[in-house]
Amino acid sequence: MTRDPEFERERLTELMAAEERRFVELHPRSAELAEAGRRHLLAGVPMPWMTRWPGAFPVHVAEASGARFVDVDGIEYVDFCLGDTGAMTGHGGAGGAGGVGGVGGGLASAVGRSTTMLPSEDAAWVADELHRRFAMAKWQLTTSATDANRFVLRFVRHLTGRPKIAVIDWCYHGTVDETLAILGPNGAVISRPGAIGPQVDPAMTTRVVAFNDLDALDAALAHGDVAALLMEPALTNIGIVLPQPGYHEAVREITRRHDVLLIIDETHTISAGPGGCTQAWGLDPDMVVIGKPIGGGFPVATYGMTDELAVALDPVLHGHDADVGGVGGTLAGSAMATAAIRATLSTTLLEADYERMIPLATRWTDGVAGAIERHRLEWSVQQLGCRAEYWFCPLPVNGADAAAAVDDQLDAFMHLWALNRGILMTPFHNMALLSPAHTDADVDVHTDVFDQALAALTS
Ligand SMILES: Cc1ncc(COP(=O)(O)O)c(C=O)c1O
Repeated sequence: MTRDPEFERERLTELMAAEERRFVELHPRSAELAEAGRRHLLAGVPMPWMTRWPGAFPVHVAEASGARFVDVDGIEYVDFCLGDTGAMTGHGGAGGAGGVGGVGGGLASAVGRSTTMLPSEDAAWVADELHRRFAMAKWQLTTSATDANRFVLRFVRHLTGRPKIAVIDWCYHGTVDETLAILGPNGAVISRPGAIGPQVDPAMTTRVVAFNDLDALDAALAHGDVAALLMEPALTNIGIVLPQPGYHEAVREITRRHDVLLIIDETHTISAGPGGCTQAWGLDPDMVVIGKPIGGGFPVATYGMTDELAVALDPVLHGHDADVGGVGGTLAGSAMATAAIRATLSTTLLEADYERMIPLATRWTDGVAGAIERHRLEWSVQQLGCRAEYWFCPLPVNGADAAAAVDDQLDAFMHLWALNRGILMTPFHNMALLSPAHTDADVDVHTDVFDQALAALTS
């Protein structure tokens, strides 16, 4: 049974005002730093998304370790955002099953080498390990998952001679022009709301299909102009939307039938296990992209591909123009970058870590589900490995349904309520990540705080 939404809305506005006041009272030093930042930082923050945090200004961080951080006002938080997956290993990566020094220790040894634009002894180890986890034969490094996606899109256009790519409606793959597109009301491809200065009309570069809609995929690829389908194996950027049974087998059959390459972006779905959904679900892509947590918070990402594609690309990756092909970057693949990935993959994100993280996420999910049930709301909660997320509606099956259910006011309230009680959630939707450094007690604190929020809303 759902409560009367209008009643909640009124109550919500009152509760939100109280939380806003409480936030300002609790954070005088963050307020000062935010004021100072407004002098010369664009939008007052060093990165645009930092305007998305709840409260009058962002909390400023003093230190972080494991699953916790302390702000400049001396308040400690349990961090379920973990840098929106960048710190999925726990801050410093020191909580992982495999390492004494953790990621920080591994990185410290590489700092002196900074960048020489030469490979280091870690490079081959990194590629071997990525091969072991994701089964792709050949790998290279970039400084972000955005770059990795940009580069593989160049590769697939080069390889196939086709101009377009296909993506899933309401996907997110970084600041990649071709992917900032959604299906408009009449089914046409349009720019995603909020996309700043699109390079060209995305309908020129992109076909968009709904997740879990195989007929739409078949029809989109039948045009014969799509080089590759770029997708997350489960949507994670508009909440978690899982594939329906048989979806991935059918996606692979359809892409092969239309000679379309399949790129799986595991940047967030590595939450499913050490080799992401590719390994956990036995997927068979042509390319894999993975960024964020594989460097333990250091800016690195990678792309991998089959041997067949690597051979076909060989001519453009050698020779005089290899540095101006639109792929690569001065700081990519440095000794620091390879050391970061090696330190991460050898000490955390191991089988033993997932054996700890996934049950924690299940505990988190069960706690949230219990509170939803207790307060008789028609909300839902979904889990993908060590990632979990709640919704203000029954579980959606595609991105458009998920986007339609977004409730900015309720989102802001839930986030601020949690923050004011020592819990950090991602500022976008209602996602929590569980690292090896979290404890049952951390999860239970969240359950209590979440339960109290629902009690306040529905009383
Ligand atoms: C699935 C996926 N791919 C790529 C990216 C881009 O990562 P970055 O911002 O580190 O370039 C993101 C960022 O959220 C993502 O969720």
